[in-house]
Amino acid sequence: MIDQKNILVTGGTSGIGEEIAKSLYNNGNKIFVTYRNEKKIKDWQKKDSKRICMIEVDFNNESKVQKLYTQIEKSKINIDILINNAGIYNFQKLINLRINDLKNEFNINCFIPTLLSCAFAKQQKKNKKFGNIINILSFATIIPSFGRATYAASKTAFSVFTKTMAAEFYAMGIARVNGIIPGVIPTKMNLRNIKKNKKKLLQPISIGKFGSTKDISNITNFLISEEADYLNGSIIDVSGGKFLIQNQEDAR
Ligand SMILES: NC(=O)c1ccc[n+]([C@@H]2O[C@H](COP(=O)([O-])OP(=O)(O)OC[C@H]3O[C@@H](n4cnc5c(N)ncnc54)[C@H](OP(=O)(O)O)[C@@H]3O)[C@@H](O)[C@H]2O)c1
Repeated sequence: MIDQKNILVTGGTSGIGEEIAKSLYNNGNKIFVTYRNEKKIKDWQKKDSKRICMIEVDFNNESKVQKLYTQIEKSKINIDILINNAGIYNFQKLINLRINDLKNEFNINCFIPTLLSCAFAKQQKKNKKFGNIINILSFATIIPSFGRATYAASKTAFSVFTKTMAAEFYAMGIARVNGIIPGVIPTKMNLRNIKKNKKKLLQPISIGKFGSTKDISNITNFLISEEADYLNGSIIDVSGGKFLIQNQEDAR
């Protein structure tokens, strides 16, 4: 019998977030899932109102985001674990960069998940509870890509917050905080890019194939488990061994 936890997953109606939410639910937990569009709610997410709670919030809607912080802080959404998964991946050459592009991507990929984590920390402190935060980062925090500088910068900033939250929140008895770097995982975020550049994207991956959403949910489940009790501020690279050497092709 597992110890049931209340877990909030942001962006849980597609891709990596959906897989994480599903596996946490299948493991007996109660899940809270943020979504933007009613039409994207999956059939499995409609079937159990006792253990699945869908929360409509677009991160571009300031008042709804503010309401979510308050609901968490005041334990109206009472959670033990927070999975910051929602993110965007925009293409913009630097020469055309505008302030609004920067603001938007930093807001969704870094500022909101960081402030959600702070709201969660306040709830934990008030309730004298210890939990977990998992942040979904990116390989772009290691090597940025052409046209995705803002994505890389926003995820790198979030990676810095991940480490500093880990240090501060653990010291306060609030949570362990860890991050995951997915490699290339076919989802709606990158399907077009994968179709167009499949060979080029596979070339640096030592394992020679793209990852799956399951690969990411497996590591999420490990990180929140007791087996990972000694991990704090760890950023786990789940990229199939990407760019281990500059000339992976020669090794094949
Ligand atoms: N796939 C990869 O190869 C890869 C690699 C590295 C990191 N990641 C990271 O993994 C996470 C999940 O991405 P994914 O690959 O699963 O892509 P995805 O299927 O596009 O999922 C992104 C999620 O974020 C949500 N989201 C986007 N904008 C939002 C907003 N304004 N407000 C609230 N939610 C919003 C999306 O909601 P909608 O469904 O309504 O759009 C969706 O649920 C992201 O943080 C991404 O940066 C992915």
